Amino acid sequence: MSEVAVTAPLPGTALDRLAAVHRVRVRPPGPPLAGAELAAFVGGAEACICLLADRVGAEVFSACPRLRVVANYAVGVNNIDLVAAGRAGVVVTNTPDVLTEATADLTWALILAVSRRVLEGDRMVRQGRFEGWRPDLLLGPGLQGKTLVVVGLGRIGTAVACRGVAFGMRVVAYTRSRAAAPPGVECELAGDLDAVLPRADVLTLHCPLTPETRGLIDARRLGLLPPGAILVNTSRGEVVDESALVAALEAGRLSGAGLDVYEREPAVHPGLVGRDDVVLLPHLGSATRETRAAMADLTVDNVLAVLAGRPPLTPVALSPCRPGET
Ligand code: GLV
Ligand code: GLV
Repeated sequence: MSEVAVTAPLPGTALDRLAAVHRVRVRPPGPPLAGAELAAFVGGAEACICLLADRVGAEVFSACPRLRVVANYAVGVNNIDLVAAGRAGVVVTNTPDVLTEATADLTWALILAVSRRVLEGDRMVRQGRFEGWRPDLLLGPGLQGKTLVVVGLGRIGTAVACRGVAFGMRVVAYTRSRAAAPPGVECELAGDLDAVLPRADVLTLHCPLTPETRGLIDARRLGLLPPGAILVNTSRGEVVDESALVAALEAGRLSGAGLDVYEREPAVHPGLVGRDDVVLLPHLGSATRETRAAMADLTVDNVLAVLAGRPPLTPVALSPCRPGET
């Protein structure tokens, strides 16, 4: 029997399965943990299950020598120091695949909500400002025949691209790693982001947050978008320079933006909050009951595997050194 530290309760029954074989300590819901506080919570545990806002830095790996696995309840692992994990010989796992369709659906909820002004319409009705059908009431850009640019053609980007084809859009995917479009997805591949941005009627972001993608969509790249473009981000907030986005919206250069994630999450840039042309969600990409339960199952199965000496189901590749380091 090993000790497992879980930084928050998880939906579904997966933690019960874990508690049937290991000593499980679950922290009550609270603010995210980081640094010494997280190290103190993990203590002598051999496994830690954490959330995407918990920051698992080098100090956790040095302070917790018994730790064998950190299982992130998320697909993105930008909150974990993978170099320190690799040095400490700790396995890191994430939750790919099980959240792909839910996140792609939410991305499309944002694309449709922004383009068709769904929330503005809802507010109009609730506030008693709907005075009857009018030929020019809340018009937005149509999507058919327009171009959807997908940044990052991983699992979620591919699922978003498929839906784009179904919506009658021309899909262009910016990818640095793929030589061919995924089978069954009618999309053009582009290796030069700056060259495709002027074509993006809708730009949607699906890359992981890495040093290379931090601030990827900055003022200069926002300036390359065609007038009236829509930006949607369901990846990580730091991929977009939020101040530059606010400036582009204020200048009337975009039709709007749909955001599920924020640069300083959970804080939201004050320039976004009062705008009618943005739709703001509280990081709901994977928030279906089925997906959150499946994420809990996968997280627990990863921990069970590592503690039993088996290979984890979904390990994250660990880099042995930082870029530029030998
Ligand atoms: C959600 O944002 C995740 O990375 O799973
Ligand atoms: C990332 O940009 C990718 O190649 O999917």
